[in-house]
Amino acid sequence: MNYNHLIDLNYYSVEQCQEIIELAIKINNNPEKYLDSCKGKILATLFYEPSTRTQMSFQTAMLRLGGQVIGFDNPSNSSVAKGEGLADTIKTINCYADIITIRSPIEGSAKYSALNSELPVINAGDGGHLHPTQTLTDLLTLKIEKGRLENLKIGICGDLKFGRTVHSLIKALSRYKNNTFILISTENLKIPEYIKEFLIYNNCDFEEVFSLDEAIFDLDILYMTRIQKERFKDEQEYLSQKDVYILDCEKLKKAKKELIIMHPLPRVDEIDNNIDKDERAIYFKQARYGVYARMALILKMLESKTDKNILKGNKTDLKCLNEKCICNTEKNIHNFVIKSNNNIYCEYCEKIIK
Ligand code: NCD
Repeated sequence: MNYNHLIDLNYYSVEQCQEIIELAIKINNNPEKYLDSCKGKILATLFYEPSTRTQMSFQTAMLRLGGQVIGFDNPSNSSVAKGEGLADTIKTINCYADIITIRSPIEGSAKYSALNSELPVINAGDGGHLHPTQTLTDLLTLKIEKGRLENLKIGICGDLKFGRTVHSLIKALSRYKNNTFILISTENLKIPEYIKEFLIYNNCDFEEVFSLDEAIFDLDILYMTRIQKERFKDEQEYLSQKDVYILDCEKLKKAKKELIIMHPLPRVDEIDNNIDKDERAIYFKQARYGVYARMALILKMLESKTDKNILKGNKTDLKCLNEKCICNTEKNIHNFVIKSNNNIYCEYCEKIIK
């Protein structure tokens, strides 16, 4: 199977995801076997946004495979600070590395990078859009800790509007049989319209609710998320949202014994620290699994052919209305749209244009 750029996990089939998960489990069970698998290979990490887990787990993954790592985590130390555009940065990194991972506040930036790269590109988070390697981590966690990826009642709580981990997770888990999503948020932070349309189009059950208290009792998974402070235009709005959902021991009393509590981390105050001792809380294990998921992904991608023709839509003169989309921030970029389900979507950020 061919593992082209990882922009959206749903570009890979369910079977491909399964292969990565199986390889990650093998690596987890016998890491010594893979110590030299990427000897002589270089991973470039281009981080235009803060990160602890994603960046360090990518670095750890490559080092544990015997490869090496270059990159920056502070764009003001790179030529971006001199006004270099993303396409030129990517073309330059193509002269140095074997595989690229990029995190940026700009939605669609990973896809645009892939279009300008002969090397495989991994989306390590593009603004409030997607975060496919967190989702790979989440799928691996579920497989190991829950034993299945189907027949699950999944509560997702917090910032469903800006939480890219949420968008990727919903898209991925909707492909498995008999999963139901309980989307727990305030009115202001509801799931974006394009994700809802995606769920409807794929006949996946979901419910939007406000109360965590009322939803918790029959969940198999509770996926808590941080309110994404950096994505709010207005500080006051953030302050009004920030402490609405706090999972504490009292609330957890109502939950099933078999519940698992996940969180992509970082946590701010949406999970009381006392919960950490509860064996249902598995978010630090989840962070550990992220290394194995990324090791497996890197191995699969480096064995594959890279094809930069990943656009699915048509060239257009329509303008994307999302000011955080790459097609409104990068010079010399042409916009593309995808028509589906009576809507027209921006190819880069997936927001509905019409
Ligand atoms: C998440 C992210 O960056 O989107 N963190 C992560 O990668 N593990 C979640 C967050 O920042 O809240």
